Amino acid sequence: MAGGRAVVWWLVVVVVGAAAMLMNGAHAAQYNVGGDSGWSLNVNYTAWAEKYEYLPGDSLFFKYTSPSHTVLQVTKEDYKECKTSNALFSDGKGNTTFSLSAEGQYWFICGVGDHCSKEMKFTINVLSSTSAAPASPGPSSPDSASNIINPIHLLSFLLFLVPLASFLF
Ligand SMILES: *[C@@H]1O[C@H](CO)[C@@H](O)[C@H](O)[C@H]1NC(C)=O
Ligand SMILES: *[C@@H]1O[C@H](CO)[C@@H](O)[C@H](O)[C@H]1NC(C)=O
Repeated sequence: MAGGRAVVWWLVVVVVGAAAMLMNGAHAAQYNVGGDSGWSLNVNYTAWAEKYEYLPGDSLFFKYTSPSHTVLQVTKEDYKECKTSNALFSDGKGNTTFSLSAEGQYWFICGVGDHCSKEMKFTINVLSSTSAAPASPGPSSPDSASNIINPIHLLSFLLFLVPLASFLF
């Protein structure tokens, strides 16, 4: 049954390839901070940030023009006090993209004038890919790209293929 074997191997290669692609790229989402309002005054960023679930590999896009605003990632303490001198990350060139590369808590403020104390700030918690609950995929909205396929499901499928393949050979 050489032909049968070839077909199974072909299937395995296709599925593994698809899985690798999904885990690398398609899973990542980019969130436009503040939706259509972008990064500016008079937006409730706490309410905005609560709408999504963030995973490692996702990114935030801050839409603004220089020099009106800046994007600073700060510590929890500096976030509370709106302290700008100690930033972990800082950019003011306009249209900042920030990669959420690792799980954990992130705090962002605007470093211009009194914008931070006027609530131009928010915090998000990036979950580990495995603990994220895919249960509530929220309403699809134009200000976010949603995650389409859960890699966990894909992995289970791959694990299912292994005994199938050994049974056939
Ligand atoms: C912003 O939204 C949060 C969450 O919905 C709410 O608790 C808070 O009171 C709002 N802040 C203002 C200034 O409206
Ligand atoms: C910033 O991003 C917005 C939205 O993607 C775009 O329309 C605008 O042209 C960008 N501005 C600059 C200076 O790149």
